[in-house]
Amino acid sequence: MDSHHPAGYTISTDPTRLQLDVIHGFLRTSYWAAGIAREMVERAIRHSLCFGLYHDPTGAQVGLARVVTDRATFGYLCDVFVLESHRRRGLARWLIQVILAHPELQGFRRWMLATRDAHPLDAGAGFTPLGRPDQLMELVLRRPTGPDAVR
Ligand SMILES: CC(C)(COP(=O)(O)OP(=O)(O)OC[C@H]1O[C@@H](n2cnc3c(N)ncnc32)[C@H](O)[C@@H]1OP(=O)(O)O)[C@@H](O)C(=O)NCCC(=O)NCCS
Repeated sequence: MDSHHPAGYTISTDPTRLQLDVIHGFLRTSYWAAGIAREMVERAIRHSLCFGLYHDPTGAQVGLARVVTDRATFGYLCDVFVLESHRRRGLARWLIQVILAHPELQGFRRWMLATRDAHPLDAGAGFTPLGRPDQLMELVLRRPTGPDAVR
């Protein structure tokens, strides 16, 4: 599935277009996956529905959002980024709109995500703080994501 933006960008779910150098290059410097091993990124994207954001003039990948999902009831939105030189043009907002409208991601009971500071972006798409935090739990393992993690 491809979506086109008049400013010259395309969102594609074609896994063959994903540029692992760009994705790993960003994620290993991110606050949530600092130092993540390339092999772990490769495995994660292989088993997820990924939305790549591409700059049409060059075809270069300039952003990503990854959805971990059963494609029936639930989706977890993660690894959302737009490279610095393409930010503040509404591209992340568009990326999330495209994801939420994707035909294979309809009829869910719940979407979830975690964010440190992008709440306005996600709130714009309808995400809210947990309505019933007493009914949701997490298991935080804090395992290293660096090269040791995939041995
Ligand atoms: C967050 C990020 C994806 C936004 O990309 P972008 O294309 O510049 O975002 P947009 O231009 O679509 O902006 C959408 C809205 O989110 C807001 N926003 C964007 N980045 C934000 C941030 N870091 N903190 C708070 N608000 C932010 C904008 O103000 C904008 O709101 P507005 O339209 O009401 O002005 C980008 O800054 C990024 O890649 N950051 C580093 C990675 C990251 O933090 N990802 C999110 C993890 S949850």
